[in-house]
Amino acid sequence: MHQHFASPTPAATELPRPKAHQPVMPWEPRLEGLLCPDVLAAFDREQFESDGYWLWAGALTDEGRARMTAELQRLQAMQDYMVRNTRWADGIDWVARGLPPPPPERLTAEWREARVCGGSEQLSYYPAQGDMPEVGKGFLNMPTRAFMADVGLFGTGADSLATDGTWPSQGHVPEFAPLCHSPFLLDLATSHPQMMALFGKLFPGERFCIDHANVLNRKQGEGPGRHWHGHRYGDGRYEEHEEDSDGSPNPEFLRRQCIRTLCYPEGAVSAEEGGYGGELGLVPGMHLCRVPFEASFSQADDAAMEQWLQGKTHPRHGTPLRIKRLTVPPGSFISFCHHMPHWVGPRVVDAPTRWAFLFANRTPLPHAVAEREAATTAGEETSRWGPVMPAQWLRRMDAAIARGEHPPWSETARSILGPD
Ligand SMILES: [Fe+2]
Repeated sequence: MHQHFASPTPAATELPRPKAHQPVMPWEPRLEGLLCPDVLAAFDREQFESDGYWLWAGALTDEGRARMTAELQRLQAMQDYMVRNTRWADGIDWVARGLPPPPPERLTAEWREARVCGGSEQLSYYPAQGDMPEVGKGFLNMPTRAFMADVGLFGTGADSLATDGTWPSQGHVPEFAPLCHSPFLLDLATSHPQMMALFGKLFPGERFCIDHANVLNRKQGEGPGRHWHGHRYGDGRYEEHEEDSDGSPNPEFLRRQCIRTLCYPEGAVSAEEGGYGGELGLVPGMHLCRVPFEASFSQADDAAMEQWLQGKTHPRHGTPLRIKRLTVPPGSFISFCHHMPHWVGPRVVDAPTRWAFLFANRTPLPHAVAEREAATTAGEETSRWGPVMPAQWLRRMDAAIARGEHPPWSETARSILGPD
């Protein structure tokens, strides 16, 4: 469910700006030994294409695992600090920025503490628009998110996102702009040789870009999982058949893919197996049925999904399709085709925070490539960057690179963050 909002367009010169020469982000040396080479080497392309997923069990080295957990904890702490200490109700000048202020009843300290702090997917909500009901938990509406990406929520004093002084404000929040707040994760997403080798196995011989990258820390004590659903590739125009049809599955692994790589530095194990729950379930083989929405938003639980799977068989092997719940040991990644139906199990009462990060990568959208090439041929100027990273941050990074304050973009980073 994606809703597009027009970017706000207040007079940019009247808006608060970041302090001059404030570093965009600190830089730090790469952790070379991030992944275990034998886990990388064990990837079986044929199995991946048959199952639609791959469990990189124990992929992170001990050092890599500790580093990723610490980074996810650091990002959560930064975000919680912002949620607690930014003067959302009486400091941020929403009117000056042309933004609808958050609902006042959601801005009390108690509400923020109880409902927003401690995990991901708590911060944002979609404002009611037309027949679209207000959903979500938090107080950052979509126009505000768009503004944070385009201009940045910079200010002075109370009229700014709070930082504790140990990190520079990025005008945005870590949950939705984690790569802007974490040199470590930015490196993993765009340049780290071992991660590029991993992504390269998912997209052999193909260019890929970032579809999105999100922190997915599950809040302490947050019980409900996520019902069965799938995601589209792009805007869905390349799906194999209409969402309500029962069109024939295609036994060929499609080259156009969006592939999610979920990273669990502390693992995710079902309650039945003695874990805290929150494990990932999916249906191996169903990635060959390019029908993400046949399974979306309607299969509430395993029983409903089992019933829906009755009589359906693996398009290559003819074997019955079955739900697979994955036991994920600490330090593991799971990569899977994101249109395949998947589900996240409920978590046990008082489960501690589940630390996780998502890299979603995809092949460039053919129509977007064609449009860009046509524009280039016509002599029109095209953006160097895709839409994933906040535009205000990219501008500031480019300026910092030009001033020699930051290492230049790597070639792979320019490709991965570039336009389709
Ligand atoms: Fe999902």
